[in-house]
Amino acid sequence: MKNKYYRALAATSLSLVVLFSSFQANKTIWLSSLDLTKMVQGAGKPVIDINKNKKPFSVGKDVFEKGVGTRVKSYVWINLAGGSERFMAYAGVDNDTAPGSVISTHRFKIYGDGKPLWQSVPMSYGDAAEKVDIDVRGIKTLILEVINIGENNSNLQLDWADAHFIVSGQNPEAIEPPREAEVILTPTPGLRPHINGPKVYGCHPGNPFLYRIPATGIRPMLFTANHLPAGLTLNTTTGIITGNAPERGDFNVVLHTKNAHGSDSRIFKISSGDILALTPPMGWNDWYAHYRRITDKMMREAADIMISSGMADAGYQYVNVDDCWMNKDKDADAGRVGPPRDAQGNILSNSYFPDMKAMTDYIHSKGLKAGIYTSPGPKTCGGYTGSYQYEAQDAKQFADWGFDFLKYDWCSYSRVTGTKNITSEIHQKPYRLMGAILKEQKRDMVFNLCQYGNDQVWKWGFEVGGSSWRTGGDLGFGLNGLFDVAFKNAGYAAYAKPGAWNDPDYIQIGYVGSAFGGGLPVHTNLTPNEQYAFMSMWSLLAAPLVYSADLSKLDKFTLNILCNPEVIEIDQDPLGEAAKAIRKTEESFILIKNLEDGSKAVGLCNNGEIPINMTLNWPEANIKGKQVIRDLWKQKNIGIYQGKYSVMVPRHGVVMVKISSVKK
Ligand code: GLA
Repeated sequence: MKNKYYRALAATSLSLVVLFSSFQANKTIWLSSLDLTKMVQGAGKPVIDINKNKKPFSVGKDVFEKGVGTRVKSYVWINLAGGSERFMAYAGVDNDTAPGSVISTHRFKIYGDGKPLWQSVPMSYGDAAEKVDIDVRGIKTLILEVINIGENNSNLQLDWADAHFIVSGQNPEAIEPPREAEVILTPTPGLRPHINGPKVYGCHPGNPFLYRIPATGIRPMLFTANHLPAGLTLNTTTGIITGNAPERGDFNVVLHTKNAHGSDSRIFKISSGDILALTPPMGWNDWYAHYRRITDKMMREAADIMISSGMADAGYQYVNVDDCWMNKDKDADAGRVGPPRDAQGNILSNSYFPDMKAMTDYIHSKGLKAGIYTSPGPKTCGGYTGSYQYEAQDAKQFADWGFDFLKYDWCSYSRVTGTKNITSEIHQKPYRLMGAILKEQKRDMVFNLCQYGNDQVWKWGFEVGGSSWRTGGDLGFGLNGLFDVAFKNAGYAAYAKPGAWNDPDYIQIGYVGSAFGGGLPVHTNLTPNEQYAFMSMWSLLAAPLVYSADLSKLDKFTLNILCNPEVIEIDQDPLGEAAKAIRKTEESFILIKNLEDGSKAVGLCNNGEIPINMTLNWPEANIKGKQVIRDLWKQKNIGIYQGKYSVMVPRHGVVMVKISSVKK
C-alpha cells in the first residue's frame, strides 16, 4: 500500500516535471513576426501591429496590441512542422477603415493539412471580434484565409488580431503557397491541316473585307473555298481572303485546306449585314505589357509573332494599340510630348508612331487586323489627346488609317458632363454618339466600350452600337479576384449574344508589365492552375479573348494555354451564349454553357485553398441519360457518365469539360 503510494507519488512528480519542463519549452510566436511577404492579398501589403493610421488594431469594442491586418482575398500558408500546440487570435473587421457604401461580409478560415479546422461567422464592419483558439498539435501546414462572402469591398482591413502560436517545437514559418509544375495538357497540333477559328463571321455590305483562315498543320498548305461570294478573293497560299464584303445576306462558304499530310474542310458562314463580331473578338492588346513604352515597332513585332507563334492559326486576329500612341502636354518621355492636333484638327500620333497608315498596312499584309484606342473625354486615362468634340473627325481618321477596332475609354469624360449626377443618359451619350459615327464609316470597326461596367452597360451596350463592353474596372494585377470576376460576369450572361459580348478585361498570363516606374514585363505569379482557370472561365463566358502580355516572351506553356482549339471553340461557339453560374458556394461554382450542337461546356471552378470534389447533376444541366465527358484541355474523352459527373478540382483550379449525349 505504502509502496504503491510512493510509486504513485513518484510517477506524479515525474509527470509534473515533464509537464513543467514542457511548459517551460513553450514559446509564444506572433503571427506578425513571420515573413508576411509570403501572404497573398487582394491589394496592398499586410499591416503589422499598428494600422495605417498609426493606431492600434481595433475590432468592435476591443483594442489589440498586436496583429496582422490584411485585405481580401487573403491567404498565408504556414509551415508548423508539427511544432505548434495552439493558434490563438481574434478575427474581425478593423474599425480603422470606413466601409463606405458597400456593406461587405467576410469569413475567416483556417485549414490544417488540407482539412478545414475552423471558420468564423460572417463578419462585417463593426461586428465584435471572434475568438480563435485551436489545437494545432501534429499539424504540418496551416492556412489562414479571409474571403468575401457578399459584396466585394477590398478596402477594409481584416484583422488576425493578437494572433500567436504556442510553440513547443520548431518555430512556424510563412511559406510560399504551392505552385504546381507547368504541365502542358494539350497535344501539339499535328502535321495534318486543321481549320480553326469562328464558324460565322459578320461584315457590313460593301466594306473592305479581310480574313485570314486560321489553320494549324505544316505549311505549305493549299487553301481553296467553295461558294465564296463575288467580290472576295482567296489567296491559295496564305489563306487570306480579301476584297469587298458581299451584298446583304448569309453565304455558306466551304473552306478547304490540304498539305502533304492530309486535308480539312469546314463551313464558314459569312453574314453580311449590320452586325460585326458574331463571335467574341480574339487578338492582342499591348496595355498589360508595354503601357507608355508602346511603339510602332512593337506593334509590328506583335503582328509578326502572332503569325510565327501560331496564335493566328488558332484564331487570334486583332493587333490592338491601347493608350499612349498620341501626344501629351508634358511627360518625362519627350518623344510622346507634342501638339494634340494639326491646324485642321486632325489628331496627331506621337514620334513613336511615325506613320499610322503604314503600320496598319503592315498588320493587314499578314491577314491580321488593327485596333486603336481613344477616349470620349478631352484626355485619355494616361493624359494623352482624347476625342472630345472631335469624335467624327477622329473616327474618320481611324478608318482612313485602316483601323478595324476601336476601344473607347471613358477616362476624363466625367470632366465634361457638367454635373456630378451622371444619369443613365449621360453614361450612354458618348457611346451612342461614337456608335452612330462608326456605322457611317466605310470600314468595319468593332466597337469596344470601356467605362468599367457603369450604369449596367451590358443592358444598353449593344443598342448604342457596341460589340463588346468592359463589365468592370481594370483587372490590374489583383488577379486573385479572378474567380470573383468570372462569377460576376456569369451574372450578365443574358446580355451576351452574337455581336454583343461582356468583356471582363484581358488575359494576362506569361510576361506582364507594370504601368508604373520601370515596370518591364515580369513572369505572372498566377499558378499554372490559375492560368488554366483564366482561359477556361473566359472561354466559357464567351469573353473576348484578348491576350495582353509581352508577345516577345511567349513560352510553350503560355502558348499551350492560349491556343487550344477545342477550348477556343467553346468561346467562339456560333450560338453565342455565355455560361451561367450554378451551385455557388463560398469558394466554388459551376459554369455551364449551351453549345450550338446541343452539348454543354462546363467549368467546375474551385477558388478555395484546398482541392475539393465537385459534382454536376444532370438535371442542373438540363440533360438526361448517358453522356460523353470530354476533357477539353487534354482533348480526350474521359468516359461515359449517367446521372452525374464528379471530379476533384484542384486549389484555384477549373476542370473544363464538354458534355454530349451518347449518339444512339
Ligand atoms: C483604363 C482602361 C485600361 C487601359 C488604360 C489606358 O484604365 O480601363 O484598359 O486602356 O485606361 O490608360
